[in-house]
Amino acid sequence: MLEFDPHVLDEKPIPPPEDFSKKAHVKSLEDYREMYQRALADPEEFWGEQAKRIEWFKAPTKVLEWKLPHAKWFADGKLNVSYNCLDRHLEKNANKPALMWEGEDGSTVQFTYAEFHERVCKFANVLCSLGVKPGDCVTIYMPMIPELPIAMLGCARVGAVHSVVFGGFSATALADRIVDCKSTLLITADGGYRRGKIVPLKETADAALEKCPTVGKSIVVRRTKEPVAWKEGRDLWWHELEEKALKEFPALELDSEHPLYILYTSGTTGKPKGVLHTSAGYLLQCMWSTRLVFDLRDEDVYWCTADIGWVTGHSYIVYGPLANGATLVMYEGAPDFPRKDRFWEIIDRYKVSIFYSSATAIRAFMAWGMDWIKPYDLSSLRVLGTVGEPINPAAWKWYFEAIGKNRCPIVDTWWQTETGSIMISPLPGATPTKPGSATLPLPGIIARVVNLKGEPVGPGETGYLTIQKPWPSMLRTIYGDDERYKREYWERIPGVYFAGDAAQCDKDGYIWVLGRVDDVIKVAGHRLSSMEIESVLVSHAAVAEAAVVARPDEIKGEAIICFVALRTGYTPSKELRSALMDHVATTIGSIARPADVRFADGLPKTRSGKIMRRLLRELAHKGGISGDTTTLEDLTVIDRLAKAQAQEEE
Ligand code: WTA
Repeated sequence: MLEFDPHVLDEKPIPPPEDFSKKAHVKSLEDYREMYQRALADPEEFWGEQAKRIEWFKAPTKVLEWKLPHAKWFADGKLNVSYNCLDRHLEKNANKPALMWEGEDGSTVQFTYAEFHERVCKFANVLCSLGVKPGDCVTIYMPMIPELPIAMLGCARVGAVHSVVFGGFSATALADRIVDCKSTLLITADGGYRRGKIVPLKETADAALEKCPTVGKSIVVRRTKEPVAWKEGRDLWWHELEEKALKEFPALELDSEHPLYILYTSGTTGKPKGVLHTSAGYLLQCMWSTRLVFDLRDEDVYWCTADIGWVTGHSYIVYGPLANGATLVMYEGAPDFPRKDRFWEIIDRYKVSIFYSSATAIRAFMAWGMDWIKPYDLSSLRVLGTVGEPINPAAWKWYFEAIGKNRCPIVDTWWQTETGSIMISPLPGATPTKPGSATLPLPGIIARVVNLKGEPVGPGETGYLTIQKPWPSMLRTIYGDDERYKREYWERIPGVYFAGDAAQCDKDGYIWVLGRVDDVIKVAGHRLSSMEIESVLVSHAAVAEAAVVARPDEIKGEAIICFVALRTGYTPSKELRSALMDHVATTIGSIARPADVRFADGLPKTRSGKIMRRLLRELAHKGGISGDTTTLEDLTVIDRLAKAQAQEEE
């Protein structure tokens, strides 16, 4: 959890720039409050009104059916999400640039809404020719190339449910995610580029498919043109299929609650959860929040730097901006390749006006320094965003001054894979900001910081962040595990949505999100589960017991620290430490590589046998223990752990 100086709670708010407010969709705090009150007084009326933004094949007559904890939004409406992202723009904006893509190797591709539409229609035909039916699951494991959003929108067009797996995950992680949703088709690429190296996606996918009997076909995009292994009868080249496909495909009329996608995310247990999102409510809230939070207008050039493998890319590269007919920039690679000025060069070249990135990236830019930034003209920027983890006030202020030149409002957006879209954020023309706070909930969102009994805590007191009423883009369930959905989100504090974050609310009603209260670790904004890493560690022959905790990290927010007790016959060594780090990185993916592995001859446990992570967290953080240890089974364990650590640091 973030620790900040409590005096930041008293800092003076920074008002939105006056000339920004004048032109903004929401122009003042009063306007925001009026909208908020309207939504609070009659949420159904409010969301029903917003739903007119969707182009329906059949407009809904109902807004919400709520049977705790299951929601149906706009249940009798019919629509197609891909139609709303593409076809609806063709009349006025067929020739407007939709996507301006840049590869890490410098190659570029641009296409208009008409061209984007055509490619998605062709791909929809490809999917149908392979027998993909509405409701079928399709797993997508791809680099950040244009074919990725084309594949997602192609699925949406034919009613298939996509499950995008981040390209940094390993074969085991990919296989687990394919098996869980029983995909019949995999879409991948021969490889991708990252920091000048080739990421061998096809090779990893092939290893995964060994364990996935449901997958009959695999479509492969040619990106690197490196030779790859080929399985006749299963593997098919994307470009060969696309070449033969017809360029018309009328979008299927689907129910509002038709599943749109599954996205796996880490939770409190070792097993990733398949968060299920459906069509109309999700689309609506993504579309509506993109317009409000980024103050999006027709002439903007919008760039969200997330990877589409995470929810930020789903909602704020693909669905939200495209439903608004925005012009997007999409970049394949790393921010420091070939040099640390890559992002600023892109902003300058494409005249990006809205820039949405992560707190980790901002802290890295800050550490790299101004020399990389100075040569570029960033005057096209007008709104800056951040997401994924708490941003410390110092990084916020740096972002405001160094990138925004004190004239671009910053939107610190709090939300989750489960919420589908932004829930708490300033509106850039309306909300005075306080560095480090996501500020106020969006209209229609009733967020409250409470204790475990569900009672609001006082200003400046730490409590749990909850959402009190259903919202359109909420997850509908955890795929295949509705019990877990109920238990983890709706029963911790009965009747309300439990976000898993600690937070404070200040005297102005501003929300300060402090970090996770469960065993989720956020490394560079990527969500990882300590349990999942522990079970990988104990699968190694040398390991008897393992406990994984987070340690604060200046750039990445949190870093993974593993405490490991070895089996008899094994002794601690540098080689074993790196072997264990490699074991985690190859089993889950390189994003899960531990920052450190510490050997111990036992782990601190309560008398009932539960590992005391709190103590380990403290040890990882401060090197010693001051907290309550009265329930500890073997007090000497902590001493020995602390001593071992001190010796290593000497
Ligand atoms: C954290 C990412 C503070 C939080 C969109 C949440 C944040 C988790 C913020 C969800 C923010 C996200 N300030 N913390 N602005 N945004 N978080 O599912 O802990 O990858 O619960 O979704 O990220 O992570 P997820």
